[in-house]
Amino acid sequence: MFTKSTIQKFRELPTPFYYYDIPLLKKTLQRVSEEAGKYDYHVHYAVKANANDKILAIIKDFGFGADCVSGNEIAKVMDIGFDPDKTVFAGVGKSDWEINLALDHNIFCFNCESIQEIKVIDELAGEKGKIAPIALRINPNINPATHHYITTGIEENKFGIYQWDLEDILQLLVILKNVKLIGLHFHIGSQIIDLNAFKGLCIRINRIQEWFIDHRIIVDHINVGGGLGISYENPDRHTIPAFAEYFGLFKNLLELRPKQKVHFELGRSMVAQCGSLITRVLYVKNGVKIKFAIVDAGMTELLRPALYQAYHRIENLTSNGKPDQYNVVGPICESSDSFGKYINLPETKRNDLLAIRSVGAYGEIMAFRYNLRDLVKSYLSDEL
Ligand code: LLP
Repeated sequence: MFTKSTIQKFRELPTPFYYYDIPLLKKTLQRVSEEAGKYDYHVHYAVKANANDKILAIIKDFGFGADCVSGNEIAKVMDIGFDPDKTVFAGVGKSDWEINLALDHNIFCFNCESIQEIKVIDELAGEKGKIAPIALRINPNINPATHHYITTGIEENKFGIYQWDLEDILQLLVILKNVKLIGLHFHIGSQIIDLNAFKGLCIRINRIQEWFIDHRIIVDHINVGGGLGISYENPDRHTIPAFAEYFGLFKNLLELRPKQKVHFELGRSMVAQCGSLITRVLYVKNGVKIKFAIVDAGMTELLRPALYQAYHRIENLTSNGKPDQYNVVGPICESSDSFGKYINLPETKRNDLLAIRSVGAYGEIMAFRYNLRDLVKSYLSDEL
């Protein structure tokens, strides 16, 4: 993955930093575009996964739309030049200024999560003399068997409209004049490896569509959200996620009405594998049972291991010494500031460079400033 000359360039840069392999990003996006294109599927990139300006610009150039969850994400993608007509806005807590911003940009669709929100969108759209296009985000009550913090589509989650509220919503939609129902939206969770969860989603969507058709409603589009997982264990073998199987599954199982379009909101699967966090070993200290490799990146640069006990492959880029085991930890004053326990690495010393892999999604974007740390920098492979 890393050539000698790349590693040589890494040595000259202050650490820690994110490094993005741009040829790999482009190859991945090309695959998404081809596989989704086979069925005329629309893909909105989930900006929350990585909002690095340069990465966004590349994604925009491939013609993907954007899935935003805040006013600032909408402002950002408009700035980068994404097409408003391919921009969707989701989130359980859209504030008035965010709704107004989205209305001003005439975005494609608001993915609505409650009856209360629909009323506010109607009111604000009315003030502007506009009709807001909306989709109902329905909680399909499907458990995707992923980490419980990133499960979103079961009834105990805060997300989406519960099926028992649909009757009331349809009655309300007859009255409201400034919103127009154009879609149904679903999202069951993230890092889903077992595609059977998506099968369950398709079956549930088919049933929900029947209910809507019984109520004489056929929406223009079905948005099935995102969630396709990636291989954190073996990023070099499974570099590009199983897009063909994924899109093919929806093609086979979703029962569409004539002219109905299918939309996706993929985040992780589009950007995760192209990113690595490069960090320098500061000290190697002997613990009671294990050596600690203390590195200059911490949970402030990559929160996933601390927050979700997430596994990321760690490689020593500058040693080919004897194999040994280390707990790889950061400098932050929290015991959860650890990137991995009992990690097999070649003998590791001060100033070695480690790569923490598969961090292109939910890595840089989740950085924060605890301990007053500087926000992490990033470099694209074609800039080095
Ligand atoms: N659509 C909606 C409505 C979502 O909530 C999400 C992610 C996506 C699309 C994109 O899902 P993806 O394709 O990336 O799985 N920070 C966590 C992940 C949180 C995902 C939140 N929602 C992590 O680091 O694993």
